Amino acid sequence: MTTNDKFAPEGTRLFVTGGAGFIGSNFVRLAIENGFNVTVFDALTYAGNMENLAGVEERFRFVRGDIRDAEAVRNALRESEPRAVIHFAAESHVDRSILGPKIFTETNVLGTHVLIEECRQAGIEKFIHISTDEVYGSLGSTGLFTEESPLDPTSPYAASKAASDLVVQSYAKTYGFPAVILRCSNNYGPFQFPEKLIPLMIIKASNDEKLPVYGDGQNIRDWIYVMDYGTAILRALERGTPGEVYNVGSSNEWKNIDIVRLILEEMDKPLSLITYVKDRPAHDRRYAIDSSKIRRDLGWEPETTFEKGIRQTIDWYMTHRQWWNNIMTGEYLEYYEKNYKPKL
Ligand SMILES: NC(=O)c1ccc[n+]([C@@H]2O[C@H](COP(=O)([O-])OP(=O)(O)OC[C@H]3O[C@@H](n4cnc5c(N)ncnc54)[C@H](O)[C@@H]3O)[C@@H](O)[C@H]2O)c1
Repeated sequence: MTTNDKFAPEGTRLFVTGGAGFIGSNFVRLAIENGFNVTVFDALTYAGNMENLAGVEERFRFVRGDIRDAEAVRNALRESEPRAVIHFAAESHVDRSILGPKIFTETNVLGTHVLIEECRQAGIEKFIHISTDEVYGSLGSTGLFTEESPLDPTSPYAASKAASDLVVQSYAKTYGFPAVILRCSNNYGPFQFPEKLIPLMIIKASNDEKLPVYGDGQNIRDWIYVMDYGTAILRALERGTPGEVYNVGSSNEWKNIDIVRLILEEMDKPLSLITYVKDRPAHDRRYAIDSSKIRRDLGWEPETTFEKGIRQTIDWYMTHRQWWNNIMTGEYLEYYEKNYKPKL
């Protein structure tokens, strides 16, 4: 990958919030492989897991801390002296935001505000805000989200991400703070918490349990392999223009039900395991991303086909049973009962 000198990997110190989560931990591996010097700042909520960083634990610095805690953020920034911050830390699951929305505003809006203010004070030279395509709301059967699409979030999760985008944009406009916003479509791949569609279905199928599909299963999502998102983030770090928003996606739209069928076929399991459950309230019908801006302006392209990525992901879950067995206890089971049992 070509780099500009300012953020050339060797010696560049990165501060990665939420680096023990799904996308964050995959990104941390990529950044380390590329020679960046990484500090992970993570509160280790139910979604954060040091096992996501197994194998590279000697190669980064870890600080357990909460982005809502200004002093903790300030001390960690002072000690690690990063040049750039990649901000993944968030409450990230729509269903949980419907069951308990307040923590989403606290973490995603207030936490982002506390973090960005500390980063401004610390003179951070680039801040990559990891947002989502869900801030745009839902599409009909045609059209794509562009960076100019209005923000029209539906769930408390999406609303909190949209609000955090506006806080970040205000810092770029008011203070000239060098922030770049990335709005990415649905990610899949290793280390994804088994509450999200693809790992949930793989695990249920492997246990010969019912696969709960919301509503009529016709909702459409645009899927990207997590490592492809990682390379987009590196591009944004190196070349992204401060103050700009970039959509990131793989032009890979799938109906939920077709993904579930594909997983069952790939795993040689019967379609009769599918069970339709009561739809999620205000369930967005379709997301699809126009990512021509990042492709054109930053020269980024995804590399992983869905056929290859989904195969790799199934294989990963099948060879990492211990990883998900360790997670699917206590708090996870309580959440699953609350969210799915009344509908099954
Ligand atoms: N998963 C997707 O498909 C997707 C798509 C687009 C955008 N995003 C965004 O990408 C980011 C990462 O998503 P993910 O799926 O990896 O999430 P995740 O839930 O797997 O990980 C979130 C991480 O943030 C940490 N965290 C939560 N609250 C914190 C706090 N107050 N202080 C410090 N750390 C805290 C958790 O411990 C965890 O490690 C999120 O901002 C999400 O909105 C995700």
